[in-house]
Amino acid sequence: MTRLILGQTLAFDADPFSTPPEDAARHSAHGAILMDGDRIAAVGEADALRAAHPDAQVEDMGDALLVPGFVDCHAHYPQTAIIASWGRRLIDWLNNYTFPEESRFGDAAYARTQAELYLDLCLANGITSACVFSTIHPESVDAIFEAAQARNMRLTTGKVMMDRNAIDGLKDTAQSGYDDSKALLEKWRGVGRLGYAVTPRFAPTSSPEQLEAAGALWAEHPDCLMQTHLSEQPEEIAWVRRLFPDDKDYFAVYERFGLAGPGALMGHAIHLSKRERAAILETGSAVAHCPTSNTFIGSGLCDVAGLRGQGIPLGLATDVGGGSSFSMLATMRAAYEVGQLRGLPLHPAQLLWLATEGSAAAMRLSDKVGRLAPGLEADMVALDMKATPVLAQRSARARDIFEALFATIMLGDDRAVKAVWVAGEKARG
Ligand code: GUN
Ligand code: ZN
Repeated sequence: MTRLILGQTLAFDADPFSTPPEDAARHSAHGAILMDGDRIAAVGEADALRAAHPDAQVEDMGDALLVPGFVDCHAHYPQTAIIASWGRRLIDWLNNYTFPEESRFGDAAYARTQAELYLDLCLANGITSACVFSTIHPESVDAIFEAAQARNMRLTTGKVMMDRNAIDGLKDTAQSGYDDSKALLEKWRGVGRLGYAVTPRFAPTSSPEQLEAAGALWAEHPDCLMQTHLSEQPEEIAWVRRLFPDDKDYFAVYERFGLAGPGALMGHAIHLSKRERAAILETGSAVAHCPTSNTFIGSGLCDVAGLRGQGIPLGLATDVGGGSSFSMLATMRAAYEVGQLRGLPLHPAQLLWLATEGSAAAMRLSDKVGRLAPGLEADMVALDMKATPVLAQRSARARDIFEALFATIMLGDDRAVKAVWVAGEKARG
């Protein structure tokens, strides 16, 4: 069955970090998206597509802005219940809030409840794809995969591998981490829209033997992603230096164990040396920018424009629950504010691109999601740029679509997410 969704459309033809941002996207004030089953069949003008497809079922979203479903390329679903925990920096935050909560996820029923809650929050905020950390427990991986499968979302996760420097009950071993990850990978990878990421938490919580096992598993399955954390806080970097004194820097640890390369997704990557930046680029690794987390935990200001300017794949991420919001609009807002503090305000086209195509590319999903283009999977959001009285006032004064989009990023929340489609099916609205 074909369906025609009418609204304003904004579709990227080019990367707004290498083309003037306002030239990178095509805006149509009376546009339409033609969906055929679970795919986008055409993007164009409403009148032309209506005339060409008279039998299509029409849904008119008025002047809402149709954009690709948001892609969150780094989040921790098991931290849903400890989001907004006060006053700690990274290592204390992990020990005091995060690890005790994550230790509950061996309970399959609790894991299921939290996975359902998390994915419903994603959909309410227009996030249709995500790359998510589970916990060390296989039950936590099964829970989020099952919940994603029930919603037909394009979701990637992996069992956290962590065999040291964590509380009792929240550690695996090099061998069990490898065996459990391999079994889960073979069970779930490529089932429907699901993907697997080999997931060593970060260098401080894995022994060299475990990092080696993670590298071996990824080498056996290079089509999978590999996700971890890199250079988030100075204390963490100093800790890595003490734990791995023979490696020249933090990223070199991952390189030595085969944990760098295309499909490697590094969360944060704030405090990098020149050599590390060059090595991230050379190896083809990607970065997940987590701006609400980086301000909330007090980590620092990621050099987004610099990393993108170098050509490093970079996506936008909530990093729930170190991140302080489930909203991708709030995450774009924080990315703008981080850019301002670095003296480089990101253009709204760049913010939207990071939250869609940028994250999809970082997850190696460019041929599947992240763009409004024929052949891609029909994940889409209708943004109401008049969702609240103040937003309506501000949008009414906008001189072009980018001003209205910027106001929606700065003032919007889940009320601005008017409708969500997942693989062609209406999931919200
Ligand atoms: N580094 C290692 N684990 C974590 C985590 O769960 N959240 C954040 N923000 N950083 C980490
Ligand atoms: Zn994280």
